[in-house]
Amino acid sequence: MVKFEQIKGFIFDLDGVIANTSTYHAEAWHQLADKLGVTWTDDLANQLKGVGRMDSLNMILEYGGKLNDYTEDEKIQLAAEKNDNYLKLLETLDKSQILPGMEEFIEDIADHNYLISLASSSKNSPRVLEKLGLSQYFNAKVDPATLKHGKPDPEIYVRGAEVLNLRPEECIGLEDAIAGVKSINGAGETSVGIGDANLLHEADINFANTSEVTLANIKDALDSVRV
Ligand code: BG6
Ligand code: MG
Repeated sequence: MVKFEQIKGFIFDLDGVIANTSTYHAEAWHQLADKLGVTWTDDLANQLKGVGRMDSLNMILEYGGKLNDYTEDEKIQLAAEKNDNYLKLLETLDKSQILPGMEEFIEDIADHNYLISLASSSKNSPRVLEKLGLSQYFNAKVDPATLKHGKPDPEIYVRGAEVLNLRPEECIGLEDAIAGVKSINGAGETSVGIGDANLLHEADINFANTSEVTLANIKDALDSVRV
């Protein structure tokens, strides 16, 4: 495990880490799954967290045994329909949907001169960050449209460090999704999993909720692992 003093940057997931928009994604996919006749379960919802748009659609179709029922063009249409569902839910998005303590945490790390990047799979993430009034804190954002592979592949978190000109071991990644924690670990960075520690057991550090995410708690967690 790295020493806290080695850390120079933080790489953030967005949905479910900075804002509660992961519930909007889930609701929008749930609406589409109902239309497709695929039963929505908590297990499916957890598997989809953090996964990009087309990969998510394919997972839903596979889950329902319908992977071969649609052409590529039809799948593009279905994914667009989910995005329309999601954008409707985003209409009322504002600062009040920032998860507890996250604005303070981001301000604190910026004040302490850590570098900050975004590693969200969502093509809507720049718009969401703007609406939340947090865009200015980010030194760089990975554009998910430029990636070859989505989470759980490490590519997005590798890029999240590169865009800050940092080495992976100098970075901490923050995630609420199993696929995201795998991506951080694969990139050789320190992973913080926020949420159910049983689901996110592969994370280096676990916090039950965003209020626990502070520099002091991260330092304590890294120091205690070393003892
Ligand atoms: C991730 C979400 O951040 O972005 C997923 O956790 C979502 O639920 C993915 O499917 C892709 O988002 P978008 O906005 O590009 O469809
Ligand atoms: Mg997430």
